[in-house]
Amino acid sequence: MMLSGVLLAHSDDFCYDDERCDPYAWGDNYPSCHPLLESHHSPINLNHQLTKNGSLDSLNLEGFNLTPKGHWRLVNQGYSIVLEVGDGMQVSGGGLPGIYRTVQLHFHWGSVFTSGSEHTLDHLRFPMEVSSLHNENFHPISSALSFVAYKGQTKPIPPFPLINLLPQNNLAQYYRYHGSLTTPPCSQVVLWTVYEVPIYISWSQFDRFISGIYSTQEDENDQALLHDNYRHIHPTYSRTVYASKDARRLTNRASCLTLFHLLNVLQLFGLLNL
Ligand SMILES: *[C@@H]1O[C@H](CO)[C@@H](O)[C@H](O)[C@H]1NC(C)=O
Repeated sequence: MMLSGVLLAHSDDFCYDDERCDPYAWGDNYPSCHPLLESHHSPINLNHQLTKNGSLDSLNLEGFNLTPKGHWRLVNQGYSIVLEVGDGMQVSGGGLPGIYRTVQLHFHWGSVFTSGSEHTLDHLRFPMEVSSLHNENFHPISSALSFVAYKGQTKPIPPFPLINLLPQNNLAQYYRYHGSLTTPPCSQVVLWTVYEVPIYISWSQFDRFISGIYSTQEDENDQALLHDNYRHIHPTYSRTVYASKDARRLTNRASCLTLFHLLNVLQLFGLLNL
C-alpha cells in the first residue's frame, strides 16, 4: 500500500525526487535505462574533446518560420511540460540520415539558478538559460504555464513560428552525437543536436517553472512541485561527439568558459541578439 501510494503520487512509474523511482532506479522498471558498459545514454558532458566535422552544415528546418493554423497544446505530463506542435514541420540535412517530423518539445529545469540543463558544458549545468531580459518569443509558453500547473492539465496555445525558440543567428553551430531518450524507456535511438549558443529567458519566466508547476494532480492531498527534472550525466565511452562545421566555442578549450561568460554579459546589456 505504501509503495503504490508513493508511486501514484508521482508520474506513472518514474520520478525525479524519490529514490524508489528516481533516475538511478529507472532501470528497475525499464531495463533499457540501465547504464551498462559502453551503452549510449544521454545526457553527457560536452567538453573540448570534440571532433570537427566539416560536412555538418545547418539543418533544414522546414515550416519553422511559418505560423501554423489551428492550435497547439501545452500539457503537464507530471514529469515535464510538453508542447505538442501538430505535424506541419520537418527537419532534415545537417548529417541526419532522413527526414524527421517535429512532434513536440518539452522542458527540463532545476530549482535554483545553477542547475537544470540536462547536458553539461565542461561539467557545468545551466538553469535552462536565464538572463534579466524578458524573452518575448517565450511569452506564449510562459504566460500559459499557470493553466497547466497540475499533472494532466492541458491548455490550447496559438501557434507561432517555432524558429523563435531557437538561436536563429547561430543555427549552423551545434554538436552532434548518438545517445538516448533522457526519460524512460531511455531508448538509445536519439541523434542529438545540441545548439552551441543558448537562448535566454528572464528570471521571472524561469520562476514560473520552478515555483508554479506540480508533478501531482490538482485534487491530491500532498502536492509536490516539479523541479530538477533532469537525468544525471552518463559516460561518453567510445562515442565521438562532433562539432558542426561552424561550431566555435568548445573547439578552443582555453576560451570556452570565458566566452560563455562574455556572451552572458553582452546579452545582459542587449548588445547581442542571440
Ligand atoms: C561527419 O558526419 C557525417 C554525417 O553524420 C558522417 O557520415 C561522417 O562519417 C562524419 N565524418 C567523419 C570524418 O567522422
